[in-house]
Amino acid sequence: TITPVILCGGAGTRLWPLSRKSLPKQFVPLIGGKSLLQLTLDRVRPLGPGLMVVTAEAHRFMVADALQKPPGAAQVILEPVARNTAAAMALAALLSAQNGEPEALLLFCPSDHHIPDAAAFARTIEQGVAAAEGGAIVTFGIVPSAPSTAYGYIEHGAPRADGALQVERFIEKPGADKALQLLMSGQVLWNAGIFLCRASALLQALQQHAPDILAGCREALPAQVEPAAAAQRGAGLQWVTPLPGAFAACRSQSIDYAVMEHHAQVAVVPYTGAWSDVGSWNAVAELTPADADGNRIQGQGFAPLSQDTYIHAPHRPVVALGTKNLFIIDTPDALLVAHCDCAEQVKDVVAQLESLE
Ligand code: GDD
Ligand code: MG
Repeated sequence: TITPVILCGGAGTRLWPLSRKSLPKQFVPLIGGKSLLQLTLDRVRPLGPGLMVVTAEAHRFMVADALQKPPGAAQVILEPVARNTAAAMALAALLSAQNGEPEALLLFCPSDHHIPDAAAFARTIEQGVAAAEGGAIVTFGIVPSAPSTAYGYIEHGAPRADGALQVERFIEKPGADKALQLLMSGQVLWNAGIFLCRASALLQALQQHAPDILAGCREALPAQVEPAAAAQRGAGLQWVTPLPGAFAACRSQSIDYAVMEHHAQVAVVPYTGAWSDVGSWNAVAELTPADADGNRIQGQGFAPLSQDTYIHAPHRPVVALGTKNLFIIDTPDALLVAHCDCAEQVKDVVAQLESLE
């Protein structure tokens, strides 16, 4: 069986002002009134009886809330500070070993992606099981549609005996020129950010490529496993709290840079269903069908005489008259008006104006 591990610690600042430090995008009701975290839980829970979530201490109650719908067992690792995905994944693999299951197959899933076809997703994961059982770290590849610099690129080789494709090279977030060159080669897939491997295989890979991160997490984990409040305990919810000092001392790096770019035993299974990492307002806008003028409206938006305008207006009427190529995102305490070409820059603005978070 597979143990899903949901990585739920990102800040999602490119979706400001909907996504905030206090309410990152995975917790925002975004699709049909459900959050991306809730939709992720619905998608992965059928894959196996176990479940881990790695999240920020500050978000424990929002995670607990999502885990109650419907109630199910989970071990929730509470990070005292964010140290990126290499450390988050190391904690989960170490906990699995601590649970007495070092050979468990862990499926690391982002909490903030939109993958509408759960059945196709499950079939694709299944195709990676043999390679993962053989010791590989299995990635899932999306057929690229543009020379995006927001993704990892997977250069694949021949099919392996276990059914997956061999990975020749993993290139995390290449620059624009390199991305275009990779795209033209026709041999690449985008990394979906989902990884399937044995806990032991990840621990070995970390030992080889990022021993300092593994050592830091090992030191942090002789952790306290705290039973959750009575109501949640019934459903088998456990909090796992790493030691703050040891964990804070860990180097902050993503798994893509720390391990995937260097590791030899990497395989990929292509995923051909719909997939979005809901990474920017462009991606969110695309979740709403466009009208004949290219306008996409959520809530009480109106866009007469406008073209290619996206309005997110859950609270009050918002009118865009004669506009073109705009995002208009209305929230109770902040308003974003941005040109569609500037979606990637929203995070830079938020970083400049910390008070906006
Ligand atoms: N628990 C925890 N702690 N989770 C984290 C942390 C952390 O410190 N940092 C990030 N995450 C979670 C995010 O919430 C997200 O669900 C996932 O890990 C990936 O992190 P991102 O920060 O969103 O990564 P990215 O989008 O820049 O890049 C990754 O995903 C792309 C696909 O969406 C890479 O794996 C790329 O190679 C990949 O193409
Ligand atoms: Mg992401």
